[in-house]
Amino acid sequence: MTGTVSREQVEAVRSAIAGVDSSDAPQTLDAFSRDESLLGDFPPQLVVFPRDTGEVQAVFRACQAHAVPLTPVGARSGKSGGSLPLHGGVALSLERMNRILAVHPEELIAIAQPGVVLDALHKAAEAHGLFYPPDPNSSDWCTLGGTVAENAGGPRALKYGVTRDYVLGLEWVLPDGEVLRPGRRTIKGVAGYDLVGLLVGSEGTLGVATEVTVKLVPLPKVVMTALVPFGSVGEAAVAVSRVLLSGLWPRCLELLDDVALEAVRGRGYPFPPGAGACVIAEVDGSREEAALADLQALADVCTRHGATEVVLAQDREQRARVWEARKLVSPALKALKGHKLSEDIVVPRSRVPEAIERFKAVGERLGLSVATYGHAGDGNLHTNVLWHSPADKPRVDQALAEIMRITVELQGSITGEHGVGLAKREFLGLELAPAMIDFQRRLKDFLDPRGLVNPGKIFAPRQ
Ligand code: LAC
Ligand code: ZN
Repeated sequence: MTGTVSREQVEAVRSAIAGVDSSDAPQTLDAFSRDESLLGDFPPQLVVFPRDTGEVQAVFRACQAHAVPLTPVGARSGKSGGSLPLHGGVALSLERMNRILAVHPEELIAIAQPGVVLDALHKAAEAHGLFYPPDPNSSDWCTLGGTVAENAGGPRALKYGVTRDYVLGLEWVLPDGEVLRPGRRTIKGVAGYDLVGLLVGSEGTLGVATEVTVKLVPLPKVVMTALVPFGSVGEAAVAVSRVLLSGLWPRCLELLDDVALEAVRGRGYPFPPGAGACVIAEVDGSREEAALADLQALADVCTRHGATEVVLAQDREQRARVWEARKLVSPALKALKGHKLSEDIVVPRSRVPEAIERFKAVGERLGLSVATYGHAGDGNLHTNVLWHSPADKPRVDQALAEIMRITVELQGSITGEHGVGLAKREFLGLELAPAMIDFQRRLKDFLDPRGLVNPGKIFAPRQ
């Protein structure tokens, strides 16, 4: 996909889908021009708001007929630029397809439309004593469709896995407008290729989900959260790996380093003074005594590895406050210096301490502040490079390139949960062999020969 899209082409799409709600009001185009990646503003020329699968299909067909790029959009909470309309054209918002179609407790599944906000799905499952674990830490505004497109992870992925582990079946509109129903509503089923596995995490480049069937699990009856301060991030990282080695299986093991702690302290969260790092540990289960015993065992391991204390959240409100502080890390870090770039690299668990140390060293050598927080339990680290002024940007880019290189050297991945999108497309070749990239490009070309659907994402433009 190259070149610009003329007003006439967009008008032709608009007339072809006359029954579908759409807007080209300046404030709508502006709102759809950016997301949480902070990668810049890329306004669409038209935003469409289909209400059913037939309307989504019509939008795809019209865009193909008039060679107009089309970018699927969820809640714009993504961090890799996946929903940015890089080449203008049409932004396809799924926000009006926001119904939970069914919860079948006897089958432990739910069926929902893509625009459902994740919290609504959580609540619908909980009403039946069931649990939909994925939450990329933004469940109050991210949508199911967005999490499917990005194969979102989040803190609970440590115990429960990521979005792909829960999607059983899809209704899916392909780039040419064809509707497929890959997958099924049973846990098992191996007939044919695993198309659900391919489409979940395809970052809006292979079409969109218009219906999602997810599996649910029993809702844990007891959840306990503890805050565990350490003198240094190195000790905290080692303790995290020792906890897992000890046979415990907490649902979250989140890490906040000194810079992240500093940032949230400034926002009124009283992390213990003197702490150089904190781990947020959360366990769950069906019996209070068992959960408490697990937490005690976890506390013992942490204390043996340098924890200065273990603070147990006493009730639901205190637990919520701990997680509020964790959610605040990202905006608080940005506020610290004015600018930041946030990564979501993942390394094999045993390499977490080394990764953190090497990322800090990169920052020190380049005179930049590097903060690391995130899902240390599964090796998925949000390493943030903070900076003040645009003059720092070349050094920031250098730091990011080094962080990516180190990650791959440690046998990790350049993105653990946010997706490649626009943010990491230049780095894809560091991780994937040319034959792997070529194969994936051919797959994309096969489904979207003119490259109109979410152009410019995952793969860098061909030279
Ligand atoms: C988080 C997002 C940034 O974990 O992935 O907070
Ligand atoms: Zn995360």
